[in-house]
Amino acid sequence: MVRRVRKAVIPVAGLGTRFLPATKAVPKEMLTVVDRPVIQYAVEEAREAGIEHIVFVTGRNKHVIEDHFDHQFELEATLAARGKTGPLELLRAELPQAGQVSYTRQQQPLGLGHAIWCAREMVTPGEPFAVLLPDMVMRGKPGCLAQMVGAYERLGGNVVSVEACDPAEAHKYGIVSRGAEKDGAFEITGMVEKPAPGTAPSNYFLNGRYILDASIMDLLGRHQTGAGGEIQLTDSMLDLLKDQPFHGVPFTGETFDCGSKLGFLMANMALGLADPELGDDLRAFIRERVK
Ligand code: G1P
Repeated sequence: MVRRVRKAVIPVAGLGTRFLPATKAVPKEMLTVVDRPVIQYAVEEAREAGIEHIVFVTGRNKHVIEDHFDHQFELEATLAARGKTGPLELLRAELPQAGQVSYTRQQQPLGLGHAIWCAREMVTPGEPFAVLLPDMVMRGKPGCLAQMVGAYERLGGNVVSVEACDPAEAHKYGIVSRGAEKDGAFEITGMVEKPAPGTAPSNYFLNGRYILDASIMDLLGRHQTGAGGEIQLTDSMLDLLKDQPFHGVPFTGETFDCGSKLGFLMANMALGLADPELGDDLRAFIRERVK
């Protein structure tokens, strides 16, 4: 039976070592792409897909993420007193309603699977939940998670978003094995986290969006370690695949891996160029620079 996807888990506990020194005091999820922090793109994508409750799995030094999704009383009072209704409305429209977000902490960096497991008491047994890895900033119409919810409503089972990568890059990701085509998606027959170079079963990688049955939490709770000595989400998905179908939905849109400096810069370029206020001037600047 297909049930509504109401909840999403967003892991934000990573240390962001690739961005030091920027991430010494500021979480990597709070680095800015054009005019909003990286984390906000995932939250907007989740809300567009109909998500009603977001669970953030945080860690030490991540409290500004909580502040970002709360009222900033002094700022709002000052904007109101100065009659700056535009920015004020923008801030208020983006704010989750009371009770729509929860926070839990991953106390040790034991891997993505462990981070998701830390939210086990906050998902509803028997219901699917979404996972969004916020480093992956995705642009699509509709957004990636909305595309997946559409597939979930048609096909049921578990749904993962996939994308083709350069085969030489496959060892950096979770890779799926493709089965039969099915109504805009395909059956997944296997998965492997970070395959050794040259051994990947396809070049379709898991690009950071999942709709999973809540029973995955029991599998994650076994705390089995895999690639890199970490508790991997992919390994528990592979176990769940023995009992439940998984469908891969090729994402129609663009993905920027903001967990890498290059991806982060590309996201700023692409979204800056698409911005109605900034696009023309930025385009002129880039043309001049690359002459
Ligand atoms: C994680 C997942 C991997 C996925 C990737 C997408 O890896 O474990 O399956 O392909 O995110 O970014 P990480 O980037 O944390 O090494």
